[in-house]
Amino acid sequence: MIRLKSKQDIANLEEGGAILSRILGEIKAMVRPGVSSLELENTTNKLMKEAGGVPAFLGYAPEGNRKYPAALCMSVNEGIVHTPANIEYIVKEGEIVSLDLGFKYKGMITDMATSVIAGTADKKDEKLLETTKKCLEEAIKECQPGAPISAIGKRIESIAKGAGFFVIKELVGHGVGYDVHEAPVVLNYHDKNMDSVIMEEGLVIAIEPMLSLGSENIDVAEDSWTYITADKSRAGHFEATVAITANGPVIITPIV
Ligand code: MF3
Ligand code: CO
Repeated sequence: MIRLKSKQDIANLEEGGAILSRILGEIKAMVRPGVSSLELENTTNKLMKEAGGVPAFLGYAPEGNRKYPAALCMSVNEGIVHTPANIEYIVKEGEIVSLDLGFKYKGMITDMATSVIAGTADKKDEKLLETTKKCLEEAIKECQPGAPISAIGKRIESIAKGAGFFVIKELVGHGVGYDVHEAPVVLNYHDKNMDSVIMEEGLVIAIEPMLSLGSENIDVAEDSWTYITADKSRAGHFEATVAITANGPVIITPIV
């Protein structure tokens, strides 16, 4: 069931989203060769507390699984999403670091992610991240009241394929706001079955394109949390929480 948000809910989401975007920007700026995931995890917890909110992922059980053990997801290289940042990892030169954060503020949850290369970047990796970001920016423009939700995935898939990259199809965006994951699912590719789901005023969704250099298939890593690409090729992830209003899309978590 889709739970539409009130104007007041959306105002609260915008407040929380602005804070989350600022915090993720600060965490992103800390990424460099030699940084430890623990530094980023600790800073995330500190900044969220100072801002008067709480981490939304810490203790959250995705799809009724075990409780997630960290505030921050920090997935590296072939890691696509869901690597707990409380497992120590030291970032190395040229690695792709994807950072995913959820924030609960005034009772409302916002969700966003970004990817960055530590130190000197490989050209192909750079293009992968630029394209993933572009997928998100263009997909947001499709978020108009009355438009089918499938327009989002259609746009993402066409941009990704046009640039020669692969869309991770098994991992999806989602409704968000009262909970971390709500209906509807937001696919990163076009599925005709979703053409009949129409976006309405008050819908709040997390759009999260995940692209890779070599495969659309996934596996679970040895840490039992991380989704990795099946061929171990590198991946990028960008995510924003977006509200559909009468005036069109409102980006709740400005992209960093
Ligand atoms: N942004 C992540 C997602 O949409 C949320 C991760 S939930 C976690 O899947 F608890 F597993 F971190
Ligand atoms: Co999400």
